[in-house]
Amino acid sequence: MASLVFPLLACFLMATASAGNFYQEFDITWGDGRGKILDNGQLLTLALDKASGSGFQSKNEYLFGKIDMQLKLVPGNSAGTVTAYYLSSQGPTHDEIDFEFLGNLSGEPYTLHTNVFTQGKGNREMQFHLWFNPTEDFHTYSILWNPEHVIFMVDGTPIRDFKNMESKGVAFPKSQPMRIYSSLWNADDWATQGGRVKTDWTKAPFTASYRNFNADACIWSSGTSSCNSQKSDWWNQELDSTGQERMRWAQENYMIYNYCTDLKRFPQGLPPECSIA
Ligand SMILES: *[C@@H]1O[C@H](CO)[C@@H](O)[C@H](O)[C@H]1NC(C)=O
Repeated sequence: MASLVFPLLACFLMATASAGNFYQEFDITWGDGRGKILDNGQLLTLALDKASGSGFQSKNEYLFGKIDMQLKLVPGNSAGTVTAYYLSSQGPTHDEIDFEFLGNLSGEPYTLHTNVFTQGKGNREMQFHLWFNPTEDFHTYSILWNPEHVIFMVDGTPIRDFKNMESKGVAFPKSQPMRIYSSLWNADDWATQGGRVKTDWTKAPFTASYRNFNADACIWSSGTSSCNSQKSDWWNQELDSTGQERMRWAQENYMIYNYCTDLKRFPQGLPPECSIA
């Protein structure tokens, strides 16, 4: 028994340890020193000041996976700042899965903005407030992406489930490998309270932090995909009744915008994925 358990455990620990190292998994791509990898690769920070923001991207491209990252957002008066954390492929018909955190005045809630682009087309915004202060501690933001679902999760609670509805003519992201990107930038022309509240540069630099990255994912390399773990966990995963109940709780209590109920915006009719199956 012990001889069977030990190698499995060792293998699991190795995979987890390597997945968490920012030096191995990411490149800081812009910001002229404002993005930093610290603590032997265990921590990454992005900063924004009046001259520039900063950003990073994954070395790997992924085609499906369960991808977790812990973020601690810009504290205090973060109005005007946006921390974007997303998966994206490239080109005019790209696919994209977005988390964007829109800052706010001290004491006012962050907005978590989500979107899904398929074949270059987005316009699928859903926005939430959070049930905790996302600047006090690290919280886990996850994307479960398999051939049937893109599920957004916050600390394990599903908040959004974009289902494969190719049968209704809605494109689903399933053939374009995506990288992970993140950036911290100034968007005070629109981000906070519709652009009315501007960035207070006397509070700069603004900093967001990242740790405990984990990708249980299929890595794309020269035209083939290889999965670094037992993909069966997440490959067939969908929301069970508890998951659906949790998602209903999050949407009923914390969702502040849903494109699927915005009849004014879609006078010709809501997008096809909005009608309940
Ligand atoms: C900021 O706070 C206001 C007031 O509580 C809220 O309506 C808004 O959704 C918050 N988020 C942003 C990004 O403006």
